[in-house]
Amino acid sequence: MINLNGVQSVDKFIENALYDKKYGYYSKKNPFGKKGDFVTAPLISPLFSEMILIWVVSYWIHLGKPKKFSFVELGPGNGAFCETFCKTLEKFPQFKKSVKIYLLEKSERLIKIQKNLLKDKNVTWIKNFNQIKNGPALFFGNEFFDSIPIKQFHVKKSNIYEKFIHFKSGKFKEFLFKKTSKKTFKKLKDFGLIRNAGVIEYPQKGFKILEPVIKKINMLGGGILLIDYGYTKAQGNDTLQSIKSHKKNIFYKNIGEADITYLVNFQLLNKFLLNKKLFLNNLVSQNFFLRKLGIIERAEILSKKLSFKEKSDIYYRLERLLSEKKMGGLFKVLFAANNKTRFNLGFK
Ligand SMILES: C[S@@+](CC[C@H](N)C(=O)[O-])C[C@H]1O[C@@H](n2cnc3c(N)ncnc32)[C@H](O)[C@@H]1O
Repeated sequence: MINLNGVQSVDKFIENALYDKKYGYYSKKNPFGKKGDFVTAPLISPLFSEMILIWVVSYWIHLGKPKKFSFVELGPGNGAFCETFCKTLEKFPQFKKSVKIYLLEKSERLIKIQKNLLKDKNVTWIKNFNQIKNGPALFFGNEFFDSIPIKQFHVKKSNIYEKFIHFKSGKFKEFLFKKTSKKTFKKLKDFGLIRNAGVIEYPQKGFKILEPVIKKINMLGGGILLIDYGYTKAQGNDTLQSIKSHKKNIFYKNIGEADITYLVNFQLLNKFLLNKKLFLNNLVSQNFFLRKLGIIERAEILSKKLSFKEKSDIYYRLERLLSEKKMGGLFKVLFAANNKTRFNLGFK
């Protein structure tokens, strides 16, 4: 069904494998948690989501406490982030009065799961950004951009070939490479992506999804905070990765049963956002960002009344979020805003 007879580009293939309404991974499975395929930061510890809320409230204060403020979560997964965000919001009654929370989710199945978890919370699901009328608007996505399909190109003898996947009778047959059009070549060149060898990865779809977000930011004021697994200097590697039951999977196997992501090229994403005239903070690691926001101090306060076992659990979870070799170093935090709203908390 996921066009398993025929040839499709890498991004089309991922789109179908993850988001086909009936057979796609995100339509069939709840991928999160121990029983699922992977765990994300909000599931590791609520302290992650608390720190993001602290950052958002500080941003709102920095903007002069606007009476109306939109917070839009992109790709809320199983809703865990938003649940903690809403719970912690109770501690900030003034901000609570001003903020309106929106969720943009593509998977109908995940929307159901989110609606169940957040049934008593004051949040609105949206299909596009037309409903967001009040600004400033802050968009937030954790592991959002890396879940949007990418295109892959291979460089051979200074020509650029797009990568396609050929399936026959439901089985993977081979990769095919087609010389890319002049238009695409120019686009890659303009972004400085053309190289002498290796693989070029280009998030065409991701950029398309960001277009209306940027429009809203330019219209209403505000910004976008993105946290993702990625790098700052392209090495020409193929970064596609697939995970099933917390183990590596070959991305064209177990279609619809395994997640597929890639490593975000932050240098490219920065260029794209700068071209759109947004102002960018310097990129920092998740470790840097969360520490600056006081995650350790918060854990210390929480730990005071806890047993040794409970303390160890908090420590173990923080270690996963902060360790340089794990999420702390591998995940990066990006903030882009319209230039009237410079805000450096967590970035310096
Ligand atoms: C890897 S999950 C991350 C979930 C969550 N943010 C977390 O940290 O646990 C990616 C999420 O983005 C959603 N998603 C992917 N593409 C989307 C799109 N174009 N519009 C809205 N949601 C999308 C997926 O369905 C999923 O909820």
